[in-house]
Amino acid sequence: MSDLTTKILKASSEGYEAAKTIWSAGSLVAFPTETVYGLGADARIDDAVAGIYEAKGRPSFNPLIVHVSDIEMAQRYVEWSDVAQSLATAFWPGPLTLVLPLKPEAGISKLVTAGLPTLAIRVPEHPIAQALLTHYDGPVAAPSANPSGRISPTTSQHVTAGLSGRIEAVVDGGACDVGLESTIIGLSNEPMLLRPGGLPIEAIEQALGHPISRHTQADPLVAPGQMTSHYAPKVAVRLNAARRQDGETLLGFGDVECDLNLSKAADLREAAANLFGHLHELDQSEAIAIAVSPIPMKGLGIAINDRLKRAAAPRESKT
Ligand code: TXA
Ligand code: MG
Repeated sequence: MSDLTTKILKASSEGYEAAKTIWSAGSLVAFPTETVYGLGADARIDDAVAGIYEAKGRPSFNPLIVHVSDIEMAQRYVEWSDVAQSLATAFWPGPLTLVLPLKPEAGISKLVTAGLPTLAIRVPEHPIAQALLTHYDGPVAAPSANPSGRISPTTSQHVTAGLSGRIEAVVDGGACDVGLESTIIGLSNEPMLLRPGGLPIEAIEQALGHPISRHTQADPLVAPGQMTSHYAPKVAVRLNAARRQDGETLLGFGDVECDLNLSKAADLREAAANLFGHLHELDQSEAIAIAVSPIPMKGLGIAINDRLKRAAAPRESKT
């Protein structure tokens, strides 16, 4: 699988048709979403889904998110509920993934759910993702389009840097605006935050009218993909750094002297959109480590700190 020439597809009706042909044949196409680029395959074809794990080098216990074009299509695959309806109405299309009971007759590959009785599903907002999914009219499993354990891609160049020769094609759609993966809410019991992400948790609590519980490290099986060492640049990462030390490069936030700034204006949304791109860029430098300025723990800052903590974690579990 390493002798493919990865095609760059345009966001045009020919590009969408080419993606459809590749997906139907059980092969892989990466595509932009508003969060990060996804590495898509038809979620009903075992061999196609296995191809995702193979291309990413991803451990197989890590289940995938299925992408669909709208609520009606989601209802083909999961048991719907009132809470699902209110969150989907408020936030779809958008950076929110819901984990709901899988309809056993839905035809989703067991490799997608890693054998769980639930399915993670979302409706992305990016116009190119919308066009591709509407044109395909089938469920597309898509993790972030990076080699497992590496930084998530927010441009098609990041995708080809990591996966060129391992996937059939990537649809080019420029840079992703949210820049952080979707927020994941478990709904098989009481609503629970499984992964902080591009939709601030406060917005979800406001829509539900009550606070929701946060999954903690003490309960590691709830979101099996949440391994500690993840999103890892090649060099070490040091958090909450007040200043650069010898040999380091500094990723700043706010009005600080640094090599690259997530947001000079200390705007968390801007910082989220820049996070993975800046990490990719600093990872190419000669520095021995990437030091990162403190980021406030509120709104999107919760998800940014979550990703940074994983980027900084000891690498023993990297797969
Ligand atoms: O923004 C996103 O969500 C991106 C774009 C491409 O849509 N996708 C993404 O997928 O981040 P991925 O595969 O990198 O992350 C999937 C996460 C993992 O943490 C996984 O454990 C969790 O979703 N997950 C998937 N199915 C689950 C399930 N049934 N129960 C609990 N967690 C699940
Ligand atoms: Mg990922």
